[in-house]
Amino acid sequence: MRGNGTTTVWNEGQKPLTFEWKRGSMFSPPINTWHQHFNGSGAEPVRYVALTNAPAVFNMFHSHEFIMDNPFRFKERFDGDTEFFSGKGTSRPGLVWESNFIPDIVNLNLHEFSVKGPGLRQVEMELSSNTLSSHLNDSPVGVYKKAHRHGPGAYIIVLGGRGYTLMWREGQKWQRFDWGAGSMMSPPNRWFHQHFNLGRENIRQLALKGWGQKFPIGGWEQMFKSTETGGDMIEFEDEDPAIREMYVEELKKEGLELKNLPVTYRKHA
Ligand SMILES: [Fe+2]
Repeated sequence: MRGNGTTTVWNEGQKPLTFEWKRGSMFSPPINTWHQHFNGSGAEPVRYVALTNAPAVFNMFHSHEFIMDNPFRFKERFDGDTEFFSGKGTSRPGLVWESNFIPDIVNLNLHEFSVKGPGLRQVEMELSSNTLSSHLNDSPVGVYKKAHRHGPGAYIIVLGGRGYTLMWREGQKWQRFDWGAGSMMSPPNRWFHQHFNLGRENIRQLALKGWGQKFPIGGWEQMFKSTETGGDMIEFEDEDPAIREMYVEELKKEGLELKNLPVTYRKHA
C-alpha cells in the first residue's frame, strides 16, 4: 500500500532468499517458511495488507505449539528455488495469473469479464500454491455489477474510484455502504453484495479471499451461475427494480448517466 523494502524468506538450513518490493507489489511467503520484512526507507513508514487463514487453522488444531513451532517443510511448494520470487508467472484458464511475486499489480493484464457486469475486466491472482487467492477488477463509469454471494472471509480494498455497495441477507432489505479509494469492506457470510460506480473514473477493487481456483474448496462456479438455476448470482433481469432506479437517481445527482443495457424484468412488474 505504501513504501518500499525487501523481504527475506528461508527454510531452516537453506540459504535465505531476498527480494525487493514497493507500493503495488504482491507476494506470499510460502507456507511455513521463515520470513522477515525490511523497510527500505529510513524516513517513510511501510504499510501493507495481509490475508491469513490463521484463525481457521487455530480453530481446527487448537494447539499453539503445533502451529507455531512446527518444522515441517512443504518441499513441493518451496525448496529454496532462487528464482521463486523472480516475478515470472503463467496465465491459466479462468482469468488466472499464477505467480509467486507480482512486482506491480497496477500493470497486471486484466481480462474481459462481462459475466458480472458490462465493461468489467478482471484478473485472478494465485500465489505460492495457496488455497487463498485474490483478484483485481476494473469497472467503468456509469455501470453497476450484478449481485452475488459466497462464504465469509473476502476482503475488498478499493484502490481507486468511488461508489457504494448494497449488501443484504436473503429476504431482507439491503443496506448501503459508501466508499472511496482506501476503503475496505467484507461482505458477511452468504450476504448478497452489489457494487455501483458513482465517480468519474473507473473503479479498481482488490479482493483478498480464502478460496481460489487452483485448490478449490467448493462452490466456485456457483458464484457465476444465476440464482434462477440454483447459483448465487442475481441476473439484472431478476433483481429488484428499485436497485436500478436508485442508481439512476444517484448518477443524476453526479451529472452522470446509466451505461448498463436496458433490462426487461422477468418476475418484478
Ligand atoms: Fe463477492
